Amino acid sequence: MAAINDGRKLFVHKLGEALNMERTVLTMLKSNEQAATDPEVKRLFSHHRDETEGQIRNLEQVFSSIGEKAAGHTCYGMEGMKKEGQDAIEKVAPELLDGALAEGATHVEHYEIATYNGLITHAETMGQQDVVALLQENLEQEQHTLQEVERSAQRLAQRVASRAVR
Ligand SMILES: [Fe+2]
Ligand SMILES: [Fe+2]
Repeated sequence: MAAINDGRKLFVHKLGEALNMERTVLTMLKSNEQAATDPEVKRLFSHHRDETEGQIRNLEQVFSSIGEKAAGHTCYGMEGMKKEGQDAIEKVAPELLDGALAEGATHVEHYEIATYNGLITHAETMGQQDVVALLQENLEQEQHTLQEVERSAQRLAQRVASRAVR
């Protein structure tokens, strides 16, 4: 029989994936912050790193609210995006790297938003309002960050384009 065989177990498993997702994002933000040269992009990564530490604490709080131990599970999606980020840092020319990192961050934020939307749907059906509120706080930070990294990615793409026509 499958080990994950009811809604609650599935929720706890998805929560474990989200925990590892955020832990992986934390390491990605650190290397992105180091690799970035554009001051605004650097500041964005640094600020979101602080937020991510809080998001990890919120997820640990969710585990304890439902009486479970905070156990992480491999988040294969974010592992893949981490590899993409490392690949960009190795291969992309310095004058294009800030834009590539900002664009990569939009993929990450979309993934995180989908993750929190899914968890919130489950928490709502379980009637766990305290859990919903914690997850909602993380979701709102991801939505806000998505807007900011999209804006940076657009600005940097325009800068590259205007240099190209000169
Ligand atoms: Fe996050
Ligand atoms: Fe994020």
